[in-house]
Amino acid sequence: MLSSNLLGLLLGLVVGDASTGPSPFDLSAVSLTNSRFMDNQDRTVSYLKWVDVDRLLYNFRANHKLSTNGASTNGGWDAPNFPFRTHAQGHYLTAWAFCYASLRDTTCRDRATRFVAELAKCQANNRAAGFGTGYLSGFPESDFAALEARTLSNGNVPYYAVHKTMAGLLDVWRHVGDTTARDVLLALAGWVDSRTSKLSYQQMQNMLATEFGGMNDVLADLYRQTGDKRWLTVAQRFDHASVFDPLAANQDKFDGLHANTQVPKWIGAAIEYKATGQTRYRDIAANAWNITVRSHTYAIGGNSQAEHFHAPNAIAGYLQKDTAEACNTYNMLKLTRELWTLDPASTAYFDYYEQALINHLLGQQNPADRHGHITYFTPLNPGGRRGVGPAWGGGTWSTDYDSFWCCQGTALETNTKLADSIYFRGESALYVNLFSASVLKWAERNVTVTQATAFPASDTTTLTVGGNPASGWDMYIRIPSWTASAAEIKINGEKANIAATPGSYAAIKGRAWKAGDTVTVRLPMALRTVAANDKPSLAAVAYGPVVLSGDYGSAALSAAPTLALGSVKREGTSGLAFTGTADGKTVKLGPFYDAHEVNYNVYWNTNGQLPK
Ligand SMILES: *[C@@H]1O[C@H](CO)[C@@H](O)[C@H](O)[C@H]1NC(C)=O
Ligand SMILES: *[C@@H]1O[C@H](CO)[C@@H](O)[C@H](O)[C@H]1NC(C)=O
Repeated sequence: MLSSNLLGLLLGLVVGDASTGPSPFDLSAVSLTNSRFMDNQDRTVSYLKWVDVDRLLYNFRANHKLSTNGASTNGGWDAPNFPFRTHAQGHYLTAWAFCYASLRDTTCRDRATRFVAELAKCQANNRAAGFGTGYLSGFPESDFAALEARTLSNGNVPYYAVHKTMAGLLDVWRHVGDTTARDVLLALAGWVDSRTSKLSYQQMQNMLATEFGGMNDVLADLYRQTGDKRWLTVAQRFDHASVFDPLAANQDKFDGLHANTQVPKWIGAAIEYKATGQTRYRDIAANAWNITVRSHTYAIGGNSQAEHFHAPNAIAGYLQKDTAEACNTYNMLKLTRELWTLDPASTAYFDYYEQALINHLLGQQNPADRHGHITYFTPLNPGGRRGVGPAWGGGTWSTDYDSFWCCQGTALETNTKLADSIYFRGESALYVNLFSASVLKWAERNVTVTQATAFPASDTTTLTVGGNPASGWDMYIRIPSWTASAAEIKINGEKANIAATPGSYAAIKGRAWKAGDTVTVRLPMALRTVAANDKPSLAAVAYGPVVLSGDYGSAALSAAPTLALGSVKREGTSGLAFTGTADGKTVKLGPFYDAHEVNYNVYWNTNGQLPK
C-alpha cells in the first residue's frame, strides 16, 4: 500500500497552501472500529456494493446517445424526466472512492473505475449526441443555454448537478488513482471553462442566481490538485457577489435564502482562500460559518426550515416537519473542518462538528435498514418522527431506487467518511478532534494511535500509542465546551498535570512517547439545556454532547409539552436513559440519535431548573 503522501505525489502536484495549519489525514490512514459510527458505515457500504451500476448509468447513456444496456430506469430524482437527473451519481463516485480509501474494498474501487470508464464513453460520443467537447450529464446541454439566457423554466439546476459529477471524478482520481477519472474531469472542466469564458461578468452573476452547488469549490480544488491556474480562474467566475459581499462585511442577509444553495459557495471561499491567500475569502467563509452556527442553528446542529434560512435567531416559530435539511449539515461539516485548520486553537469548530454529527447526521440513517436509508429533513415539531409513517416532506426514509434525493447522495458520503475528521496532524502535533473508536496509522511518525471508547454513551476515551513513536510530537486533545468541569487526563494510569479546561485543547507536550503509552481522557458530562435563541423558556435538553428526546410512541402532540426540568433524572449510573415529567406524565428521554419509528419531542417548554 502506498503512503498517502506518495500517492499524492504520484497523482498530482500539491500546490501552495495559504494555511500552514494542521491538515487532515488521508482516509486510508484511519479505520473505524466497532461503534455506532462503524455500523452506519457498514450499512451504507452494503448499499454501495449492491446498487445496480447500469441503472445509475441509464440517464448518462441515454443523454449521450449510447445504449442503455437494457437497464431499468430509476424513480425519484433520477427518473428519466427529472430535470436534474444524474445529480446523485457524483455522490456514488465519491462514496465508492471513500470506501476504497478507508477499507481498501476492491468492489467499491471496481465500481468506481467501471462507472468512470462508462462516463468516458458517454463523453467520447458528444459529437454524435450534438454536445460540445467535454460535456457530461444526464440532461441536454441546451439547458445550459437556457440557463445563461435566464429562460430555463423546467426547474433544472444544471451546474448543481455537474458540480457533483466533477467532485466525484476528483475523488476517484485522488483516492483510487484512476487516470481516466482525471481525463474525464479535465475535459468536463474544460467544457465549463469554454462555456463560462464567453459570458460577461454581469451575465455570469445573473446566472449564479440559479443554484450551482460548489462549482467554485471543486474548481479551486482542481487547481490545488493540478497546480494549473486555469482552474482557479474558472473557479473565481463562480464567486457569487450578492452572497459574498455582505458576508465579507459580516452582515447576516440570510433571511429568505435557500440554505443549501449557499453553504457550498462558502466552502469554495475557504478553498479559494487557501489557494490565493486573499483574506476576503477567509472572512466570507468564517463569517458565514459564525452567522449560521450562532444565529440559524437548532440544538441538533442542523439549520433551515422548508430548505430556507429565516430571520436571525428565529428558531421557536419554525420547529416543523421540514427542519434541518441534511445536506446543509453535510456541507457545514465540510466548511467546519476547512475553517478549523485556519484557527486550530479554537474548539468552537469541532464543538459544532461533534454537535451536528452526533445529533443530526448519525441519527439521519435508519439503523434498522441494511442499506442505511436516510431522511431528507429531520423534523423538530412536537411529535416529529423519522420512520415509515409520515409523508415526504418530513422524516420518511429514502429507498433503493425511487428517491435519489440530494440528502440521500450526501449521506452516502457522510457515512463513508466518518473517519476523516477524528485526527489531524501538524508539523509536530497530533490533534484529536473527535472521540470515536478508531485506529490511526501516522506513517511519517511511525506511530499508531488506537482510540477505544463508547463515546458519547460513555464519557471516557483511551488513546493507546503504538508503533515506534519516539519524541518530537505533541498531542492536542479537544476538551469540548460542554464539558461539565475540567477534563481528567491520565497518562499510563497516572493523573497528569495538564490544563484541560472546557473549550480548550489539552496539550501533552515534549513527551518521549513509548509504545504502549495510554492517554485516558474523561470528559465529565452533565445535563444542560440548549434554548431556542429567540425564546429562552423553549429548550432542548442535552447530556454532555447528546441531545435527548422524549419518546411519545405513537401518540400525537399538538404543542411542545412542558417539561419540569427538576424532574429529569438518569436511570442508573451509566448509559443515556433518562426520565422526566412533562405535562404531568412521566416520559422516557434518550439520545435523539436513537429516536426512530417513534413520535419524539426535542424542544420543550420548560420550567424550573435541571438538577445539579
Ligand atoms: C459570531 O456571532 C456572534 C453572534 O451572532 C457575534 O456576537 C460574534 O461577534 C461573531 N463573531 C465573529 C468573529 O464575527
Ligand atoms: C521511522 O522508522 C524508520 C525505520 O525504522 C526510521 O528510519 C525513521 O527514522 C523513523 N521515523 C521517525 C520520524 O521516527
